[in-house]
Amino acid sequence: MAKSRKTKAGQKAWAGRMEEATHPLVEAFTTSFPIDRRMYAQDIAGSIAHCRMLGRQKIIRDTEAKRIIRALGAIEKEFSSGRFESLPSDEDVHMAIERRLIEKIGAVGGKLHTARSRNDQVALDLRLYMRDVVDQMVDQITNLQRALATLARANAGVIMPGYTHLQPAQPVLFGHHLLAYCDMLERDEGRLRDCRTRINVMPLGAGALAGTTFPIDREYVADLLDFDAVTQNSLDTVSDRDFALEFLAAGSILAMHLSRLADEVVLWASPHFAFIELPDAFATGSSMMPQKKNPDVAELVRGKTGRVYGDLMALLTTMKGLPLAYNRDMQEDKAPLFDAVDTLTASLAVMTEMMPRLRVRADRMREAADAGYTLATELADYLATRDVPFREAHGIVGAIVRKAIAEKRSLSSLTVDELRQHSKAFRADVLEWLTAEAAVKRRSATGGTAARNVQRRLRSKKLRETQ
Ligand code: ARG
Repeated sequence: MAKSRKTKAGQKAWAGRMEEATHPLVEAFTTSFPIDRRMYAQDIAGSIAHCRMLGRQKIIRDTEAKRIIRALGAIEKEFSSGRFESLPSDEDVHMAIERRLIEKIGAVGGKLHTARSRNDQVALDLRLYMRDVVDQMVDQITNLQRALATLARANAGVIMPGYTHLQPAQPVLFGHHLLAYCDMLERDEGRLRDCRTRINVMPLGAGALAGTTFPIDREYVADLLDFDAVTQNSLDTVSDRDFALEFLAAGSILAMHLSRLADEVVLWASPHFAFIELPDAFATGSSMMPQKKNPDVAELVRGKTGRVYGDLMALLTTMKGLPLAYNRDMQEDKAPLFDAVDTLTASLAVMTEMMPRLRVRADRMREAADAGYTLATELADYLATRDVPFREAHGIVGAIVRKAIAEKRSLSSLTVDELRQHSKAFRADVLEWLTAEAAVKRRSATGGTAARNVQRRLRSKKLRETQ
């Protein structure tokens, strides 16, 4: 029995090659529509650009191109208004849209796929999608940086203990501590922008793997879609997901940074620190213990980091050992990629809202900054300015600290005479060195915690604008 050459609704575009219909289990197993439908706008934008090029190059008639483009616009509206109806036989967003196109305008809709394969089409859609994601994430990162700056400004002059090994080390400004995260985020932004340069290369025209026989104009399509360049090797083009991996790698580092900030919020909110109070709207209670106010938001941001790392590992593993060129394995790129996008977007959003609302307990921070002999370095530095070699000064102050601990006294309670018993280099002016304020102020070399540095940074254009 001769088979119809036309594609009917519910029939696969490639049904001509097959003797029997696809098994329903296979349909369900192979479809990516539920996941890749979120790229419908990119798919349609890419198809419109491709179609304009086909018309311009006289590969299809102008009138045909116009009809196709008009129908694609209508399909886009079906998606955006939630009216698009998918079929179980829709293999992916690309086939769903083509199926609908042919339903709407008949056989001429089948001309859209001239000189194109889903292999270069999906690469295009993903690059368009990731380009938007990166741009939005860069904005989100900037907003979080500004939220941290807002918190820093509201608590200008607040001194806290800086830590190494989570042991009190030296006093620092709370603002300086927050600006450390701004610097981490600045690098995250840089990594995303860098990754964007490799996202923004136009893949369409690679065909299934070998290129196309049609007289296409790839540069024109690149121009229409705002790409900086076109890819140069068709095999690489359809099998390259480096740009997705780069995003996931940059995203993993970003998630790691967020987890560190989140962890500090958890620590600071603990009654043992009591450096901050969480806003009620960003805390949760316990179903059993009435006294609890828990930092679940920060804990979840910390915990979700594992998902983002997992997404990176999933795609690295999917890509490992794949022979050239396209392999269906690669359809598995989208679930982890979109999961990472959603996770990072949500984490950035919630941290941006929560951080400026933290109520800072300046008294608690200050108390902790004074405890733990955090001014010991000041004494050693003082001796070093009095011509005592630093290594020797370190030893002298070590002995002073040991004695003070034994006598349960703070360093600032020591008299000049007591200090002079350890070194004749101590003079009356040493007492001016023994406050947390002085210790902070003296660290004015570039990058140090002095208020001058912190204020200068907070005044930078990047951090100034409010969200
Ligand atoms: N849904 C597929 C993907 O995401 C599109 C490309 C399919 N190509 C193919 N020849 N089966 O990778």
